[in-house]
Amino acid sequence: MTDNIKSIGVFTSGGDAPGMNAAVRAVVRTAIYYGKKVYGIHRGYEGMIDGEIEEMTSGSVSGIIHRGGTILKTARSPRFMTQEGRAEAYQQLKKHDINGIVALGGDGTFKGALQFNSEFDIPFIGIPCTIDNDLFGTDFTIGYDTAINTAMEAIDKIRDTAAAHNRLFFVEVMGRDAGFIAMRAGISTGAEAILIPESKLSIDQLIDKLEKGWERQKTSCIVVVAEGDEEGGAFQVAEKVKQRFNYYDTRVSVIGHIQRGGNPSCQDRVLASRLGFAAVEALMQGRRNEMVGVLHRDLSYTPFEKAAKHHLEVSPYLMMLQEILST
Ligand code: F6P
Repeated sequence: MTDNIKSIGVFTSGGDAPGMNAAVRAVVRTAIYYGKKVYGIHRGYEGMIDGEIEEMTSGSVSGIIHRGGTILKTARSPRFMTQEGRAEAYQQLKKHDINGIVALGGDGTFKGALQFNSEFDIPFIGIPCTIDNDLFGTDFTIGYDTAINTAMEAIDKIRDTAAAHNRLFFVEVMGRDAGFIAMRAGISTGAEAILIPESKLSIDQLIDKLEKGWERQKTSCIVVVAEGDEEGGAFQVAEKVKQRFNYYDTRVSVIGHIQRGGNPSCQDRVLASRLGFAAVEALMQGRRNEMVGVLHRDLSYTPFEKAAKHHLEVSPYLMMLQEILST
């Protein structure tokens, strides 16, 4: 493959996601395979502005494929939202002759890349990394599979204690704007109800469901609540329900940031390896401002505008399935 790319910069940005390290490893080793220099940029756009940039070797990414977090560190960068910040970042990239970037992150990361590209001429390719799975243009984002397995295992444990005490649990999972984690974690644990931002299950409807479960003499009930649900988080929903339905002894559990950590699952490691490789090849093919992803098992390329602006929908089929199987 002949191309103009000499030096590639790679960085991780926004919320970390298990599998980011596996993707960094794939980017570094693919770049080296094709004879490119490759630089790790630390702390996302913040480190780009501050020049925290160092050359990476094959050895720099040894022993990280199985580790959560990100060896490059991550950050959210208000400074990159300013013209001065982006100009400083450009100068730092120029110093290292970096003429292609692989950006690992989500929505905010790609919006930043778009803005940068309207001002400076360095091509970016994005790799979707977020546990929320809410990016348009890929069936799965890196980190999502690990996070849903973490949530599932936690809810299984909660079910044991809930059944032992005949309790009703409200379990909050992550997902600020999206219910993907809640939906899969809920279906896989047989949750009695799932509250997500994408569907409007009212407190009345929820109580109706819980009453039916009580009449069927269910010994425990689990309601999975996405943190971004319009009724509020698990504590708020529990309060609203308790005022009118108090048959069960009730508890609330917030799973929290353990969903963001841990060893990535096999699926996340393989996805990360595939997309890291594809991102470097995409730069070499002259692609720019696109996110590489996987749609129906094949590689896909989605312009940043689309990936960041369009919302991936939670499948109505899964919503129906959950409704039927939980009664
Ligand atoms: O990574 C996405 C996400 O996990 C959201 O679901 C959550 O609301 C947010 O990050 C929390 O991020 P932080 O605690 O880093 O601000």
